This record gives sequence, structure tokens and C-alpha cells, in this order.
Amino acid sequence: MARERPPGRGRGIMRRWLLGDALLLLVLRLCLELRRAGSGPPARSAPPGPDHRPQRPHLLPPPGPPRGSSRRQVTYVRSGLRVPPAPTPGCCAPRGRPRTKGSRWHIELQPWAGPAQSLEEEASRFLRYINTMQIVCDHMGADSSLAKKPWLVCLDDRFGLAHQIRNKQCRLYSLGLGSDDTHFEASMANNGCEVHHFDPSVKSAHILESQRLWHHRLSIDWRDPHPAAAAQKTHSNTRKLRSILDEFGHHKIDVLKADLESAEWKVLENLILEDVLDQIGQLIFEIHLHWPGFEVSGNDSSVVRFWYSLFKELEWKDFRLFHSYKDLSKPQLFLKKDIFNASSCYTLSWVNTRWK
Ligand SMILES: *[C@@H]1O[C@H](CO)[C@@H](O)[C@H](O)[C@H]1NC(C)=O
Ligand SMILES: *[C@@H]1O[C@H](CO)[C@@H](O)[C@H](O)[C@H]1NC(C)=O
Repeated sequence: MARERPPGRGRGIMRRWLLGDALLLLVLRLCLELRRAGSGPPARSAPPGPDHRPQRPHLLPPPGPPRGSSRRQVTYVRSGLRVPPAPTPGCCAPRGRPRTKGSRWHIELQPWAGPAQSLEEEASRFLRYINTMQIVCDHMGADSSLAKKPWLVCLDDRFGLAHQIRNKQCRLYSLGLGSDDTHFEASMANNGCEVHHFDPSVKSAHILESQRLWHHRLSIDWRDPHPAAAAQKTHSNTRKLRSILDEFGHHKIDVLKADLESAEWKVLENLILEDVLDQIGQLIFEIHLHWPGFEVSGNDSSVVRFWYSLFKELEWKDFRLFHSYKDLSKPQLFLKKDIFNASSCYTLSWVNTRWK
């Protein structure tokens, strides 16, 4: 069975890789030479900047003017390899703070909750976490009268969301999987937010339902489609959040709501690993505890430790939990067992305390 491949595509990729390697060698060579020469002019390794990247078509006209802050550009030269900002004094040994940002391969696992590494210890720590608010929010914008779910945002002035809403500069991303309850989205759009609802079950690629409420036939994944698969299909409906932000030309999301039916763990992990959290003001996640979740493996105590470690990563990123809702209408199951008086479903809201 012969596979069709767009002519020259594979070779094109090869050539680009080789070119990348050649560029790298050149830069290294230059560094060595400069070092030998003692002090030279600062080497400017000119990476193929954003301007030279092939333009990807925007799915939407960027709605409104680019907002306030400076545009945050991230340039990748192959995965994992980051180009140092130019000009770099001394080229190869950038001084000052070591780079801590950028893609990572795995999250930092927390120590076990106790010496026995038992489910009891892990669950107790985890449930204590989701039941303990880390910050007091005085004005929780709610739509509980309309929505079946208590999706809550924090409208305290110190976090900027209220201000953004007043100025009609707020942006909400809502990640769903075929849920038809979009009261929260509609109400945020009515209040002046630009709302993007991602749902693979909508009928056409992009629908503008009302003035500010978009539906996109896309689902958020924790990886992009495999290039080979993507090349064979005309288009794919799954993307990483980072890819969607790039594609839409969006740099900030004031509120990210996610109801992903157990894909939330891997998606959250991906947001952490790819440093997307800095671009998010508030997070509202529905979490599911009746099983480990898609592609989460290990015994019960390892699974709960992994969940907990994801939340601790949020804490390091200055996200604080301000609301937790236990859904009593769902089965009261924790990893398939009726234990710890836990529900299988909670809705948690965090605010990025560094958000302006
Ligand atoms: C679960 O697995 C981890 C290693 O992955 C192990 O250290 C731990 O003892 C196991 N816990 C139980 C209760 O089996
Ligand atoms: C179990 O959870 C419910 C709902 O959160 C609560 O009202 C009840 O007091 C809890 N029971 C125990 C034994 O903790």
C-alpha cells in the first residue's frame, strides 16, 4: 500500500533540519572564535525570527487591537532548543539568571504524602488541598442562577478581570466536549468578554453565535497531531492550547474554563510544561476523580500524587485556589471506590495573583 506524500515535503523538512544544524554549528564556531579572540563584538546569532516564519493563515481576524502589554514572542528552533536572546554578551555563556523558562519534559513530582505511600495518605493530602481556599475572593462573579455548574470567576479589583470586563477587553476560552450548557459563556459574552468556545461537536468550523461568542470546531489536546497524520488529513480538529493561541494570534486569556471529561489532567500538565500559564488570568477546571484520567498511569497512590503535584505546580506559578465546588449530583466515587466521602467531580477556580 503506497502512502501518498505531498511531493518534496519530507525533503523540505530534512533540508530545514540540516539547515538548523548548520546554523547551530556556525554559531558554535563563531563563539569559539570570539572566545579565542578575547573580546569581540557581541555575536548576533540571527535566528529565523517570527517575521521569517512562514505565515500561517489566521482563522479569525484578530478581534480588536492587540491588547496592552508587549507582545510575547517565543521562538523555537526545533523542539527544546531555544535561541538565546540576541545580542548575548559572551555568546555561549549567557550571564545572569539561568533560564528557567521554556518547555520541560515532565512536571516536578511532590514527595510522597507519607512513609507508607498509601492511597489514604495521598488522598487525604489531595482532598485537603481542594477543600482549602488559598485566597479570599470578595466578589465572585457567578452565574449560578442560570448555569447548572458553578463556574465562578473572581472579580476583585486587585486581579484585573473586572477592569478588563469594564473595558470590554476580556477574553474567555472555554474548552468543552460536546456540552450544550453554554450559559456561562453566553453570560460572559453579554458582560463584554470575547468568548471562544472550543467544542469538537459544533457543526461548522467557526460560528459567531452572538456579537462576542464564538464556537470553534476544535478540541484541545495535550499534543499536536502527529505530522504524518496531519499531512494525510486535510485538517485536524485537535490542537494544543499553545498552538491555538499562536494560530489565533492571542497572547492572553483572562479566563480559561475547562470541562474535559478526564482529559483535564494531561491538558493541565501540558499547560505547565509549555509555560502557557503565564498567559492565563484565571482557571476554572472541572476535575474528575473516579478514575485516573486519560493517559495517567500508575497505582492509586501514584495517580493521586500526580494530581496533587499538578496543583502544586499551579501554586508555584502564583495561582491561588479561591473556590471549590463539590458536585453531589455525580457518583460519589474516588478512584472507583466509595471512600473518603469524596465526589467524583469538583469544580475548582484559581486566580493568577500576578495577573494585571
Ligand atoms: C505505588 O507505586 C510506587 C512506585 O511507582 C511505589 O513506590 C508505591 O509503593 C506503590 N504503592 C502501593 C500502595 O502499591
Ligand atoms: C460528606 O460530604 C457531605 C457533602 O460535602 C457533607 O455534608 C458531609 O458532612 C460529609 N460527611 C462526612 C462524614 O464528612
